[in-house]
Amino acid sequence: MPADWIDIGAVADIPLRGARTVTIAGSDDIGIFRTGDDRVFALVNRCPHKHGPLSQGIVHGHAVSCPLHNWRISLATGEALGEDKGCVPTVPVEVRDGRVLIPRAATVIATVPVARAA
Ligand code: FES
Repeated sequence: MPADWIDIGAVADIPLRGARTVTIAGSDDIGIFRTGDDRVFALVNRCPHKHGPLSQGIVHGHAVSCPLHNWRISLATGEALGEDKGCVPTVPVEVRDGRVLIPRAATVIATVPVARAA
């Protein structure tokens, strides 16, 4: 594994249509999401609305519904879908040999501003 990537665990440990979080000192938590079609995505684990923990939401298709107020967030882009406006940073993620990797540089991420109420 190249030194600039961090192994954060086995993809098999993330349930289909589920998520895990990665906590890295000095950084925002990262939500690692596994979709029903077995794709893996990573987002900063804060909803762009009021910072709900996206990793505790329901994954459907390539989106997650925030557990607090049900905004739907694209896992691919971090953008709020539908009428809602806001965006959470995405984090590059790869699966190699069944292991989930994120770039070491992803551990330094700015905090996510709270979106204005719609
Ligand atoms: S905090 Fe996510 S929808 Fe409100």
